[in-house]
Amino acid sequence: MADGSVILDVRNISLRFGGVKALSDISFDVREHEVRAIIGPNGAGKSSMLNCINGVYQPQEGSISFRGKTFKHMNSRQVAEMGVARTFQNLALFKGMSVLDNIMTGRNLRMKSNLFLQALRIGPAEREEMAHRAVVERIIDFLEIQAHRKTPVGRLPYGLQKRVDLGRALAMEPQVLLLDEPMAGMNVEEKQDMCRFILDVNEEFGTTIVLIEHDMGVVMDISDRVVVLDYGKKIGDGTPDEVRGNEDVIRAYLGTSH
Ligand SMILES: Nc1ncnc2c1ncn2[C@@H]1O[C@H](COP(=O)(O)OP(=O)(O)OP(=O)(O)O)[C@@H](O)[C@H]1O
Ligand SMILES: [Mg+2]
Repeated sequence: MADGSVILDVRNISLRFGGVKALSDISFDVREHEVRAIIGPNGAGKSSMLNCINGVYQPQEGSISFRGKTFKHMNSRQVAEMGVARTFQNLALFKGMSVLDNIMTGRNLRMKSNLFLQALRIGPAEREEMAHRAVVERIIDFLEIQAHRKTPVGRLPYGLQKRVDLGRALAMEPQVLLLDEPMAGMNVEEKQDMCRFILDVNEEFGTTIVLIEHDMGVVMDISDRVVVLDYGKKIGDGTPDEVRGNEDVIRAYLGTSH
């Protein structure tokens, strides 16, 4: 639940790809501990917005502030070090690697020993690896995937793969978690599970969540506030009830089959 202070402030972001205006002058803020949804039709610019926040895309105009520090351009490593993690619309997991090892990749940023020592498992590197493994095991318990810890990710059903991707992001112990359609392609039961995990992360760890999602039932259920994009422009911003009653939003998005 939101406690009021702004953790992430997006100001006047514009992003172009050649002649395509993916984002036009977008501003919104995200408050500490809230679940903030971004919705809108296909191609509206939702993923591009997350890519600007986490430094994958460099917008031509605007700025992004994180806890009051303003950045014109972010790079992915800086963003991760500031405590922002994300999951991807198209899974970015190593399919041949086990669940455990995939989630372990989320710890890379926090590993201090060099890879050579790690490979040899000597001295501080060995102790460090054990500490990282303990964090990863806690995440595996939290996500209730103990039975699959040694299974290659590619052999798991899609819904569980999405859960592993969430685990990989959680392994970074983020303060802000950016989720790009975490429930896409899931059946009803898998969606319910994912909703519960997202809310548990939000409530138990106090993690701020920015969520792109097409399922309006889910969005209305779990988000504190919603931003609505359409053709790269912001057409709505408010509580789920406010957004649901907004004429522009109904015309552009809610009036359709979503
Ligand atoms: N790397 C890129 N190069 C060129 N154009 C891009 C790139 N990424 C996004 N776009 C364009 O920017 C616009 C917004 O795309 P984006 O993927 O952000 O939309 P979206 O709201 O996430 O859509 P969806 O619901 O389909 O995931 C689209 O017109 C898209 O083609
Ligand atoms: Mg997208």
